[in-house]
Amino acid sequence: MPTATTKALSLLVLLFFVSLVHATDPCLINSIYQFGDSIADTGNLIRNGPIGASTPSPKPLPQRKHHATVFFSNGVNFAVAGSTALNSSFFTSRNLHVPATNTPLSTQLSWFKSHLRSTCHNPSCLKQSLVMMGEIGGNDYNYGFFQGKSTEEIRSYIPHVVGAIAAAAREVIRAGAVNVVVPGNFPVGCFPIYLTSFPVNDPKAYDDKGCLIRLNEFAMDHNNQLQEAISSLQKEFPGVVIVYGDYYNAFQYVLSGSVGFDKSVALKSCCGIGGGYNYDGKRQCGAVGVPVCQNPDKFISWDGVHLTQKAYRFMSKFLNYKILPQIKCGGA
Ligand SMILES: *[C@@H]1O[C@H](CO)[C@@H](O)[C@H](O)[C@H]1NC(C)=O
Repeated sequence: MPTATTKALSLLVLLFFVSLVHATDPCLINSIYQFGDSIADTGNLIRNGPIGASTPSPKPLPQRKHHATVFFSNGVNFAVAGSTALNSSFFTSRNLHVPATNTPLSTQLSWFKSHLRSTCHNPSCLKQSLVMMGEIGGNDYNYGFFQGKSTEEIRSYIPHVVGAIAAAAREVIRAGAVNVVVPGNFPVGCFPIYLTSFPVNDPKAYDDKGCLIRLNEFAMDHNNQLQEAISSLQKEFPGVVIVYGDYYNAFQYVLSGSVGFDKSVALKSCCGIGGGYNYDGKRQCGAVGVPVCQNPDKFISWDGVHLTQKAYRFMSKFLNYKILPQIKCGGA
């Protein structure tokens, strides 16, 4: 039974732990290499422009620090909206259409390697870097779900998607990365786009928060397989920190109500119009006449697909608490 004494003791242990962490700090992570899709893209899709005519060398965005004179000194963001973990050929061979702008992990990796070739001339370049291998993979399933494939068929993609993410993590480790975070998928059954697109009459199809159980289970399936792949990878590279980024539970923490979002709009998008979730696939955020809510800080979902900055802030609090203590600092 927790008494005042044991509580005081555990607080002490916690404080000791915190000071230990600080004793081995200062954490000298000085650059971030980000792979992924629209969850992390801050402009690459637009910068790359329409593929086809003349886009010989897309230039991924540097992680800028103030007005850094040296580009890329704080890492590079390779994430491109709409990207998949798997190559486009995986989808076309299954009669799925993927946009020509798709920039799969294999392409982002080749950008990463060519970036290293031109900037890094000794094996310890990545010792103070953090690699974010995702979130990626969500779109691999989206293309299936939104083009009418059955859940069972889409479930068969999971080992392929997870394999591609693990392979990409292995490649960045072979290139010298020592800190790799591999994020999982969100509980997409709580997202306005899915709630609107795949409604079910049976109330039992929804959980106590109003999310679609089947889709959340699907995301968990992906996440479980991803975590298994991460532990094999960890055995393969015992000297490298490979951390699972638990976006699923970070989102659930935000949705749980403990951080103060209003339940009445928890599953509605801020920017959007119509339906029970303020989302309409034919009139999305950004289209003419689609309004933005008064106060985005009150909402979890920004546009039905991506979250508000406030929601991300709470998610990162949850994630940092778990991830940061595991990160190796200064290449020790
Ligand atoms: C994906 O495409 C790249 C470039 O065409 C190729 O090098 C790679 O082997 C492919 N990966 C898979 C898993 O097919």
